[in-house]
Amino acid sequence: MSATAMNVRGFAKRKRDARKISMVTCYDYWSAQIINETSIDCILVGDSLAMVMHGFDSTVHATIDMMATHVAAVRRGAPDKFIVGDMPFLSCSKGLEVAMDGVQQLMQAGANSVKVEGDSHQIPVIRHIVEAGVPVMGHIGLTPQSIHGLGGHKVQGRGDKAERLVDAAVELAEAGCFGIVLECVPSELAACISQRINVPTIGIGAGPDTDGQVLVLQDLLGANPHFKPKFLRTYADSHGVVGEAVNRFHSEVVTHAFPSEAESYR
Ligand code: KIV
Repeated sequence: MSATAMNVRGFAKRKRDARKISMVTCYDYWSAQIINETSIDCILVGDSLAMVMHGFDSTVHATIDMMATHVAAVRRGAPDKFIVGDMPFLSCSKGLEVAMDGVQQLMQAGANSVKVEGDSHQIPVIRHIVEAGVPVMGHIGLTPQSIHGLGGHKVQGRGDKAERLVDAAVELAEAGCFGIVLECVPSELAACISQRINVPTIGIGAGPDTDGQVLVLQDLLGANPHFKPKFLRTYADSHGVVGEAVNRFHSEVVTHAFPSEAESYR
């Protein structure tokens, strides 16, 4: 059953009504077809696909062409869902023209909005994108595109850094973001930001008091048993299920149990 289609007004209403928003990443046609049949509110075609789908060691390797290819595949599989397409590494830091070309590619590939990582230095580009009529989701806290500058995957906004993050959230909301991802920040800070701004916050590793939650699909499905950050809850053992199915197929091939007479043409 497909959920009622979400849009930017829906995000605002959810915040007003204090009804949580669910978001999941999705990168391909196959899983998009499944997600389209679920009740999930919206899909993020995140630049984490550089790691999850392409095996790179960080999101720094995502490109706009890569993102657009995945957005288009997800749109074909999930025609009913609201899609947020991630603006990849440096795509918003090389001037407005480059940024707008990227936005155009993602929107024409089928996104309903774009997500921009970073705080103050992204405000002019975010304003420009919003004024051009394209909804923007912000992303602060742990911003994986800045992993080299941050010095690793660490919780952000602790101690005297908290105020700066609150200010960043306020600035992003004022610049016109319709939602803001808060990644890996202390729960108390995420709660404070969520109360302070009038657009929904979507948390990942940000505790229970954000206006919504997002997880990487493969993470929640348990695709990588070695990836166990504190914030992650797994809802399936896809690593085990897929491995077992493939091993059963292998064993039935080598023992001549597959295919049977009924599975063969005469
Ligand atoms: O790219 C991504 O998957 C993300 C989420 C972690 C929010 O940005």
